[in-house]
Amino acid sequence: MTSPGARPPRVSGSIRVPGDKSISHRALMLAALAEGASTVRGILPSADVRSTAAVLRSLGVPIPDLDRETVSIAGVGRSGLRTSAAPLDCGNSGTTARLMAGILAASPFTSSLVGDASLSRRPMRRVAAPLQAMGATIAPSTDGGLPMTIHGGPLRGLTWHSETASAQVKSAILLAGLVGDVPVEVHEPADTRDHTERMLRARGIDVRSEGGSIALVPGATLLPLDTEVPGDPSSAAFFAALAAMSGGGTIELESVGINPTRTGAFNVLTRMGASIGFEDFADVGGEPVARLVVSPRVLGATTIEPQEVPSLIDELPILACVAARAQGETRVTGAGELRVKESDRIAVVVRNLRAVGVDADELPDGFVVRGSDRPLAGRVVTHGDHRIAMAFGVLSVVSGRAIEIDDRDCAIVSFPGFWEVLAHVTR
Ligand code: S3P
Repeated sequence: MTSPGARPPRVSGSIRVPGDKSISHRALMLAALAEGASTVRGILPSADVRSTAAVLRSLGVPIPDLDRETVSIAGVGRSGLRTSAAPLDCGNSGTTARLMAGILAASPFTSSLVGDASLSRRPMRRVAAPLQAMGATIAPSTDGGLPMTIHGGPLRGLTWHSETASAQVKSAILLAGLVGDVPVEVHEPADTRDHTERMLRARGIDVRSEGGSIALVPGATLLPLDTEVPGDPSSAAFFAALAAMSGGGTIELESVGINPTRTGAFNVLTRMGASIGFEDFADVGGEPVARLVVSPRVLGATTIEPQEVPSLIDELPILACVAARAQGETRVTGAGELRVKESDRIAVVVRNLRAVGVDADELPDGFVVRGSDRPLAGRVVTHGDHRIAMAFGVLSVVSGRAIEIDDRDCAIVSFPGFWEVLAHVTR
C-alpha cells in the first residue's frame, strides 16, 4: 500500500531540454579550428560548456557570449591557436580537459590545464599516454590528474587500443590526429558516443568506423558549418524518469537526441515498464532526434549488463533513483567508470540512497538497489556533482518531497534552469 505522504504527483507539460553537452563542447572546438566562420544554434549555455568557451578564448579564438540562440564563431584554423600565458581553467569539465589535451598536444606551444577540486582528481593518464605515444610531452600531476602540462608540437600517427570505453579518450586522439594532420586509429573495448566522428565527417574530414575501430585519414581541410545542437538525452532522462515514476499524466520532451550510443536509459526505463513513445523523427545537425512522450506504469526492477553501460553511463544516478521506486532488486555491473566521474558515483549514489531510507549496496563496479514505495526522507550530500543533485531532486518529488539536497546550484554544470522545469511539470 502506498502511504499518503509518498503519493507521487501527477505530471504534465512539454519540455525542450537544453542542448546536448557533449555536442556543444565539440561544436565550439571544431568551429574554432575550422577554416572560416561557423554558426551554432541551440548551444548549451552551462558551466561546463562555458569552460570550453573560456579555454578557447584564452587561446585566441573569438568565442562570443553563449547566452544567445545562435552563436557565430570565426575559426582560426588548425594552426591558428595562440599560447596562453595563464593556465587554462577547465572548471568541472572532464570533456574540456581531455578533448583540449588532444588539440593542444598538436599545437606548437606549452599549455597548462587546471580545474576545480573534483576535476583535478580525475584520471588524465588515459589521454596523456596515447598523446605521449604520438610524440607530445605531457605531464599530468603526480597522482595522474590536473594540473597537466602539455608541450605540443609535430606528432606522429598512432594506432591505439584503449583499455577504457571512453569517448573522451577516443576524441582526444582523433583531435590530435586532426590538428597534427597525422593518421590515427582507435580501437575501443565497447562502442562509445560517436559525436566526434559524425561531426568531423560533416565538416569534411575522412573518418572511418568499422567493428570497434575508428580511423581518421589526414589531409582534408576542416570546413566551417552552420549547425544546430539537439536536446541532450542525458538531461531528458531526468524528466523521462520523473514521468515514469509519477502518479499520472504525461511529459513530452521535444527534439531529444536519440543517437543509439546515448539512448540506453530510455531502453532501461521501457524495460522497467515505463511507457515511452517516440514521435516526429528528424535530423538535427547530423544527429537523429525525436519527441519523447512518457507516462507512468507500474515499474519493475531490471539488470543492467556491462555492455549496456557506455550508452547510459551518465544516467546511472537517475536510474538508481528509479530502481528505488521499482518492485524488486535492480543490479548494475561493469560500471566501474562511475568511480571516476564528477564524484565517485557508486559510493555517492549508494550512500545517499541509504541516507534517505532506500535499501542499496555498493558493488566494486556497480550497485544493487531494492525498490519500495515507502516515503523517503533525509539529506543528500552531492559533493558538487550535478547529476547527483538532479537525480535526487527527482526522487524527492516522487517520494514525499522530504529529501533535502545540500547543493542544488551545481545543476548549472549541465542543466541551467533544471529546478524551474521540475517545479513547472509537477505543479
Ligand atoms: C563524454 C563522454 C563520457 C561521459 C561524459 C561526456 C563526452 O565520458 O561520461 O559525461 O562528451 O565525450 P568518458 O569518455 O570518460 O566515458
